[in-house]
Amino acid sequence: MTEMIKKAEAWARSFFDTDSTGHDWFHTDRVRKMALTIAGEEGADLYVTEMTALLHDIADDKFYSSEKEGERVVRRWLHEQKVQQKEIILSNIASVSFSSGETPETLEGKIVQDADRLEAIGAIGIARCFMYAGAAGDPMYDPDIKVRSEMSKKEYRTGKSTAVNHFYEKLLKLSCKMNTNTGRNLAKERHRFLESFLGEFFDEWDGRK
Ligand code: ADP
Ligand code: NI
Repeated sequence: MTEMIKKAEAWARSFFDTDSTGHDWFHTDRVRKMALTIAGEEGADLYVTEMTALLHDIADDKFYSSEKEGERVVRRWLHEQKVQQKEIILSNIASVSFSSGETPETLEGKIVQDADRLEAIGAIGIARCFMYAGAAGDPMYDPDIKVRSEMSKKEYRTGKSTAVNHFYEKLLKLSCKMNTNTGRNLAKERHRFLESFLGEFFDEWDGRK
């Protein structure tokens, strides 16, 4: 591991030490490992992939009070540390977050976005979804709560969601959004797992088995 990767890892570890929003250090660490696996298959640059993965959530708006502050914090760090290829790493990080909806321009950015999206599906994705719903005070499921696409504007603003609804609102849509072939194949498997989980869930809910 290069010195710079070690420094980025140490920064991310200390940054997420206290997080409880589903973005703890282990999320970053899993994204890094998944991204490196995909990068190996796709023939991408491993250094740029790993740096992007390690820093991808530090710039996220949700950790700062003003827009673009996160990006500035990361830019300053990359500059101070004299990180090689810092412009590429920064532009990857800026476009990776899925709330931005942007597709990163570089292969390495696309790979980290795939790895980050894979975190929301599969076994870990299901666990994160139920953790999030629990922390938000949402029920795991309630047949009377509509999925967001079926809510009126007012219901949307005031209404609660459920963990199971989040599958239909977001998780089941992610496998179609993958950038790389390797990511797409991994997502297909995880997507099938989401569907099989929902099948079991509703069988149990309705007392069929
Ligand atoms: P990110 O910053 O990675 O795009 P979020 O902060 O939106 O993700 O979500 C973190 C995790 O919590 C993800 O796994 C996501 O699927 C889950 N999550 C987000 N919103 C909800 C919700 N309303 N109900 C259940 N899970 C959610
Ligand atoms: Ni992330």
